[in-house]
Amino acid sequence: MDTIQYNLPQSRIPQAWYNILADLPKPMAPALHPGTHQPLGPDDLAPIFPMSLILQEVSTEREIEIPGEVRQIYAQWRPAPLFRARRLEKALDTPAHIYYKYEGVSPAGSHKMNTAVPQVYYNKLEGTKHISTETGAGQWGSALAMACAMFGIDCKVFMVRVSYNQKPYRRALIEAFGASISASPSMETESGRAILAQHPDSKGSLGIAISEAVEVAAKDPDTKYALGSVLNHVLLHQTVIGLEAIEQMALAGDEPDVVIACAGGGSNFAGIAMPYLGRKLKGQSNARLVAVEPAACPTLTKGKFLYDFGDTAHLTPLLRMYTLGSTFMPPGIHAGGLRYHGMGPLVSHVLDLGLIEAATVQQLDAFAAGIQFARAEGIMPAPEANHAIAHAIREALEAKAEGKPRTILFNLSGHGHFDMQSYLDYQAGKLENYEYPAEEIAMALAGLPTME
Ligand SMILES: Cc1ncc(COP(=O)(O)O)c(C=O)c1O
Repeated sequence: MDTIQYNLPQSRIPQAWYNILADLPKPMAPALHPGTHQPLGPDDLAPIFPMSLILQEVSTEREIEIPGEVRQIYAQWRPAPLFRARRLEKALDTPAHIYYKYEGVSPAGSHKMNTAVPQVYYNKLEGTKHISTETGAGQWGSALAMACAMFGIDCKVFMVRVSYNQKPYRRALIEAFGASISASPSMETESGRAILAQHPDSKGSLGIAISEAVEVAAKDPDTKYALGSVLNHVLLHQTVIGLEAIEQMALAGDEPDVVIACAGGGSNFAGIAMPYLGRKLKGQSNARLVAVEPAACPTLTKGKFLYDFGDTAHLTPLLRMYTLGSTFMPPGIHAGGLRYHGMGPLVSHVLDLGLIEAATVQQLDAFAAGIQFARAEGIMPAPEANHAIAHAIREALEAKAEGKPRTILFNLSGHGHFDMQSYLDYQAGKLENYEYPAEEIAMALAGLPTME
């Protein structure tokens, strides 16, 4: 029989997360205080994050040990399986080898559990009673709600309104795990009320939901804020994906020519790509690393690499990142987790250094790829992950056109079982492509903070 899964035993769950900052040729620009424009110190972040996560955020240690309690919880779904997509290869009639790391086996259905668990763990150690957060697609909100239930912490989720309406069962899951949830923008915060006063029909965005969640945490000493992407410590926790994949590809006896993941804030991309980038910098890999984003929200390919706010109400520090402008309101595409105006500063930095590549995919092409994948492999992907699949198929067809082999590895960041309305809409011909919203992006970029 041909091997389909290349799996590791529980004992191979990584012992440490891998921090690429230890190996980069140039350090990242620091996060700045929004008032003084001076580099942030740990104390500036203490009102909203526990100190252990703040220290991870700025750490340049190569390896950061994963606490035993976190590894024990990881053992429920890690090591995650690595599949060879043999039926997809056949359907495409390509000489390429296609592999995917499947993160949809986590209890919440995506890679987001990999960081939800350690974030709640460190909060619990430091005595946090409540955690507030935003969620786009609902994957992060449900992951955090589950982790909070495991550690006995209250959880409050602001869910982007368009997703709240599109995905009632994600909402139900979040509530089943005991979290409370509001559609964002809401009337519960000053930031939400300000947006609704100007735009009563606002569909919301991750930038607005972040403002609401940060505001709630900043106002209450017992509440901390948790972010599901973008920041260094979140990307760090996701490196278990790539560390496992490296061992699994060795089991398969293959070495990737290209590693692909979708990118919203950059966490699942960093998770699979940074361990490979570490190998590349040591001359042990030649893999191209490709972050794939929606054409409707083309942060890496059409944004600017500048200091900007992480949220719409400008409550967060200034981050040097690729951005479309913090007031940019992305179209209501179904890949809710990719509707973010910025990109993780670490992913932005390595793109700026020319160490990774970026590509875009249109909404209809993403769904077509997801359906093709599902019919071949029998797994329904999350709409976000469809972007990675679409690019993997592009690479496989290029290899076919060249008549040359190519080894493709992509991250299947989550399943789409709660996203079936979007597939119904796609099949009914109700979805559309969005052209690059040039005018709106130009307007939002014109409003970027000026740095002296
Ligand atoms: C399944 C899935 N994939 C990808 C993403 C994008 O986030 P990131 O770029 O941080 O991986 C999300 C975000 O919600 C998601 O739910």
